[in-house]
Formats: sequence, structure tokens, C-alpha cells
Amino acid sequence: MSEVFVFDHPLIQHKMSIIRDKETGCKEFRELVDEISMLMAYEVTKDMVTEPVEVETPICKAKAYRLAGRKLAIVPILRAGLGMVDGILRLIPNAKVGHIGVYRDPETLKPVEYYCKLPLDIGERDIIIVDPMLATGGSAVAAINFIKARGGKNIQLMNLIAAPEGIKAVQKAHPDVNIYVAAQDSHLNELGYIVPGLGDAGDRLYGTK
Ligand code: PRP
Ligand code: URA
Repeated sequence: MSEVFVFDHPLIQHKMSIIRDKETGCKEFRELVDEISMLMAYEVTKDMVTEPVEVETPICKAKAYRLAGRKLAIVPILRAGLGMVDGILRLIPNAKVGHIGVYRDPETLKPVEYYCKLPLDIGERDIIIVDPMLATGGSAVAAINFIKARGGKNIQLMNLIAAPEGIKAVQKAHPDVNIYVAAQDSHLNELGYIVPGLGDAGDRLYGTK
């Protein structure tokens, strides 16, 4: 069974309190999603493999450590996941970025897939799927299916907010995928929105409502 990690770092929680606020406008919302994603990436990558190297400081030779393990791919679920990419790339600028287009049919809440473009060497990379919201879990499960069908193996899922229903769905379909969230909320309402959540992440990021 995959594990769920909730990041309760005070900086993350402070920023989450602002993005949840309905009075927070598009510009500030976008900046905060970017910052929270960067802080979460710092935690998600804490077990990356390093190797010792010798460098010469202005004073003397020194042993230092550089990244040595598998390379990374970040895969946002369009569209809201795009808002999380730049913050992560600021920490890991050499990561490749794949894109998966999935949206939720507003009536059925079922995922509708419309795009998938992944790095060719996806099978050799550690993969972080990013999307601010994990609600029913339909979009995340579909995205993971896409990636596995193209050879992706070491997959992690990073969300700002997850509902218990979404966590359960991902754990059932993909017990090998760990889930990293800034908050685990109470439940879904009758329209499939996370309660208390932050509303529609895509609309708040891009000002489409
Ligand atoms: C939102 C969100 C997730 C999905 C979560 O996207 O960004 O991708 O809903 O819901 P689920 O867990 O029930 O599948 P949306 O479908 O609104 O598309 P958008 O990002 O293009 O607005
Ligand atoms: N998608 C969103 O953007 N918000 C929710 O609360 C649920 C799905």
C-alpha cells in the first residue's frame, strides 16, 4: 500500500491559508502555488542519491556531494498542474517535463483524456506527477495509467490538497505510488469539490471564472 505524506511545515501551511482564502486574487494565487510547490519539492526529493566528489575551494581540496541517482521527470496534469512546474524547476532545473491533458467531465466527474507527451526516456527517470487537487482521484489514476503504459515506473504524486476519496482511489489502483500533500481535507461535496478545499484550482490560477 502506498504511503501518504502530509507536509506540515509552517511556511507551507501559512501559504496554504492564503490560497484557500476566496479573496486571494489570481496573481497572488499563482505566485503562492509556485512557492508551495518549490517547498514541497524540497521535501519530496530528500532521499535523492548523492555521490562524493572532490572540489577545490579557494582554501584547499574538499569532499563534497553531488546528485548521482536517476534523473527526474515532472509531469503536470493540465491545466492546473502547470502552475506547479516552475517552482520545482527552480530547484531541479535539469528535470524534463512531460504533459498529460485530463479534465473532469462536470456531469459524470469521470476523467476525459486529451493529451499525452512524455520524455522519450521516461522509463529511466524518477517521475513526479503534479496537480493541485486530488478529488475523486479519477484524473490522477488516469495520468498514472498513461505513464505506466509508456514505461514509467518510479512514480510519485504531489498535490496541494487531497480528499480521502482521491487518496483511496489512487492507493487502490496504484499501490506503488506514494502521495505527497500539503493538506488532507475532509470530503467531497455533491459537485465533487473538495471541502473545504480552495475551489476550482484551474479557474483560480488562470482567472477563467
Ligand atoms: C481539476 C484538478 C484535477 C482534477 C481533480 O482539474 O486540477 O486535475 O480536477 O479532480 P478528480 O480527482 O476528481 O479527477 P479540472 O478537471 O478542473 O481541469 P482543469 O485543470 O483543466 O481546469
Ligand atoms: N478540482 C478542483 O479544481 N477543485 C476541487 O475541489 C475538485 C476538483
